[in-house]
Amino acid sequence: MIERSYKHYSVKPGTIYLRGGDPNFATPAHIRDAAINAIIEGYTHYAPSAGIPELREAIANYYSKYGIKYDPEQVMVTSGGSPALHMINVAMLDPGDEVLVFDPSFSRYFGEPPTMGASVVPVPLSKTGFHLDADDLNDRVTKKSKMIVLCNPNNPTGTVYTKDELRAISDIAIDNDIMVVSDEFYSEFVYDDKDHLSISAMEGMSERTFVLVGGTKMFNFTGWRLASLIIPKKYYKVVEKKTKYIGVRPATFIQRAGTEAFNAMSTKYGQAVMKEHRDEYDRRRTFFCKRMDKIDGIECHTFDGAFYAYPDVTSFGIPVSKFVDDLEREEGVLVGNGEGHGGVSVIGNKSIAYGHIRPALVQDVDVLEDAADRIERFTKNLSK
Ligand SMILES: Cc1ncc(COP(=O)(O)O)c(C=O)c1O
Repeated sequence: MIERSYKHYSVKPGTIYLRGGDPNFATPAHIRDAAINAIIEGYTHYAPSAGIPELREAIANYYSKYGIKYDPEQVMVTSGGSPALHMINVAMLDPGDEVLVFDPSFSRYFGEPPTMGASVVPVPLSKTGFHLDADDLNDRVTKKSKMIVLCNPNNPTGTVYTKDELRAISDIAIDNDIMVVSDEFYSEFVYDDKDHLSISAMEGMSERTFVLVGGTKMFNFTGWRLASLIIPKKYYKVVEKKTKYIGVRPATFIQRAGTEAFNAMSTKYGQAVMKEHRDEYDRRRTFFCKRMDKIDGIECHTFDGAFYAYPDVTSFGIPVSKFVDDLEREEGVLVGNGEGHGGVSVIGNKSIAYGHIRPALVQDVDVLEDAADRIERFTKNLSK
């Protein structure tokens, strides 16, 4: 039985919050207990700057499920995924570099590189099913291409990349000596007969792939601020040197709890807890995506991974920002603006993300049902 938790600062009473990727699940009890015990036992001192050794080892061990044995010394513990992405950008990008980003994908990938003087080159995911056509990537590679950023499973489209797609990306990366950032935050949330594969496990890729390993979403500790980065050996020292003063490490007792969380993934208990969460997300997506798709004027695919729906509301002919604001004001349903997850100038002068909202399925099915009813009423009023 999954425990719920509703102490969420962004949620206003009377509204339905589907905006951020912050599930209404409590952090599992065995992880909470580990944090409390760590405080009681005195794990209250500074942690080593790359993270406590037992957590780095637990993450390297967890990753061996993909058939790669990383050295714990390649793992850097971070205060969540956002600092991890920031650290890669600070350490690896120079002014003038180009970063290839699949479009749509997580908003931060589009915003960060320009802060380093690098530019983002959006690579459109085909409109059918948001998968990759390798030519679309190949055609955008130049001598300045430094990095490909991949979110697998993808936020916001839920795409789970196939082996062929990952092979195609790997071939392009190897042929053109480009590094890859593989953000695998949602790797545990993959449905039906889909498998999550890691690009770092493909031949020739572990030495050029930075992997973002979850924490935040996997174990429902969004507010705990714990994630990690696996760094290719040859780049480790550069990352260490260039991010030395960023100081974004989680508290020592949080890292002890993280150790419990990752170690439990090799036990039946930890696997059962994860399955319970995956099954619940599966119920939510099966209900909500089908329900959205039935609303006149909305097209909504049933996603394969992560926990975001990505309905297309273009047909209503109003800007998505207005759709989102009016929906909040009139019906009290808060959804994300899916356009924030897109690049620009991909199809004509429009991003492929154009016209999408992004409800995060972070509430129970009965609440999602209520949200869907309200969205339907809202769209009927729009069509009048
Ligand atoms: C794909 C992806 N990567 C990274 C992050 C950032 O995670 P954090 O909240 O740990 O900073 C998110 C958050 O939504 C995400 O969806």
